[in-house]
This record gives sequence, C-alpha cells and structure tokens, in this order.
Amino acid sequence: MLFKRKEKIGTEPKHLPRHVGIIMDGNGRWAKKRGLPRSAGHSAGAEALKKIVTEANKLGIEYVTVYAFSTENWKRPADEVKYLMSLLLDYLKNAEKNLAGDNTVIRVIGSRAELSEEIQEQIIKTEKLTEHNTGTILNIALNYGGREEITHAVREICADVQRGALDVGDIDEQTVDGKLYTHGQPDVDLLIRTSGEMRLSNFMLWQVSYAEMWFTDKLWPDFKPSDFRHAVSEFGQRGRRFGGI
Ligand code: IPE
Ligand code: IPE
Ligand code: MG
Repeated sequence: MLFKRKEKIGTEPKHLPRHVGIIMDGNGRWAKKRGLPRSAGHSAGAEALKKIVTEANKLGIEYVTVYAFSTENWKRPADEVKYLMSLLLDYLKNAEKNLAGDNTVIRVIGSRAELSEEIQEQIIKTEKLTEHNTGTILNIALNYGGREEITHAVREICADVQRGALDVGDIDEQTVDGKLYTHGQPDVDLLIRTSGEMRLSNFMLWQVSYAEMWFTDKLWPDFKPSDFRHAVSEFGQRGRRFGGI
C-alpha cells in the first residue's frame, strides 16, 4: 500500500522558496544580554549572515534579500550608524574573499544618494565583481524602505509619462514591479524575521504581498543555518492559495 511519508523537518523541503526575505533583528538585545556594546551584536550579526548565505547557496535558493539598514535606522545614535556603515563597507569589501566558495551575486537595493561616497563606490565594485557568479543572488537592503522604493518607482513612471514614453492607461502592476529595486526578480515567497517581533518595519511592502511569514524568537546572531533550513522546510509544508481554492 502506498502512503505518504511525513517529511522530517530540516531535510529536503518539498517546495523551495525562490526568494527568501530576511529581517535580521535582535543584534542589540543579543549584545545587551551579554553585557556587550550594541556594536558587538552587529558584528556577530554580520558573521551569522555569512553562514546563512552559504546555506542558501547549498540549498539552491535563487534569491535572498536581507534587511541590513532601513531608511528609519538613521534615527539611531550617530556612533551606532557609523559602526553599521563601517561593517557594511567591510562586508562589501570582503565579499570576494568571504563568499568565494559560494559563488554569490551581490546586489544592493535602496536609496544610495544618502550613503557615503566610499560606500557608493564600493557597491559598484562589489556588484561588478560578483555579477557573473551563478549562485544565490543576495540583495542587501541598505538605506532601504518599502515606501521609499514605491515612491521612487512612482517618480520614474511619471517621468516616463512626461517624456511620452508611456501612456497612463498602460500602467499596470508589471509597470510598477519593473520600476522597483528588485525589478526582474520574483516576489518574496518566504519572509523570515528573528527576535520575536512580528512586523514588517517597512520591508519590501510590494514584494511580500503573498509571502509566507516565519517568525522566531531567536536573536539574529543566534540564527543558525539549521534554523534557516527549518524555515525553508516549513515553507515546503504550507498550502499557498493566492486567493484561489
Ligand atoms: C538588527 O538588530 C540590525 C539593524 C536594525 C541594523 P537591532 O540593532 O535592531 O537589534 P535590537 O532590535 O535593538 O535588539
Ligand atoms: C528592521 O529592524 C530593520 C533592519 C533589520 C535593518 P528595526 O529594529 O529597525 O525595526 P523596528 O524599529 O523594531 O521596527
Ligand atoms: Mg531591532
């Protein structure tokens, strides 16, 4: 007799998400618990990210978008912002070395104008350096906000209309999608947020409209490749209907 074998969590997910979004939250609380400065939490968080990207490549996930710095994070104390920016710069600089075995393609999404010239130049270098890789495409959301992204898209669409390249009547969802920082990429299938918070915090508002959400109380620096596999595996068990039956 045939019967369905129940899949073991953590092994061979049935359906892989094509695009995983991650809100990496809890670095500050992780550091506080250890009596360390918040910066120590951020650097532990950067280490955690490297391992998750390696795992995503191993699993064959096509796209991963990580929330690294939001348009709201400028409200933090200047020294914390400065530290986060220096970590991001290092991450981009070391991309080749750190991610060599992974074959990762790195792209940075968000508004670049407010970033330092040094970071802007490094983004261009790192994107160029990794563009022909064939592994996971890692979007680093840096000075990223979902509302800013949509506002930016609206501005671009209006500019197209203004110069006569587009008719207002022809604007559809694809038009908007094509103007997002993630144009050409599939919507987010699986959204992971760590640290027990259950909100979007302005992350990929357009792209998560049908994402499966997965939350964990673990703080980001404690998030392990096995946790990532767990989330991906649970995604494989979910029934997605997209409004159908
Ligand atoms: C996430 O950790 C990293 C960034 C937002 C840059 P937090 O710094 O938000 O950590 P908590 O939420 O204060 O613990
Ligand atoms: C979201 O985390 C932004 C990033 C992870 C980069 P926050 O810690 O900034 O979000 P809130 O303020 O708790 O909503
Ligand atoms: Mg936080």
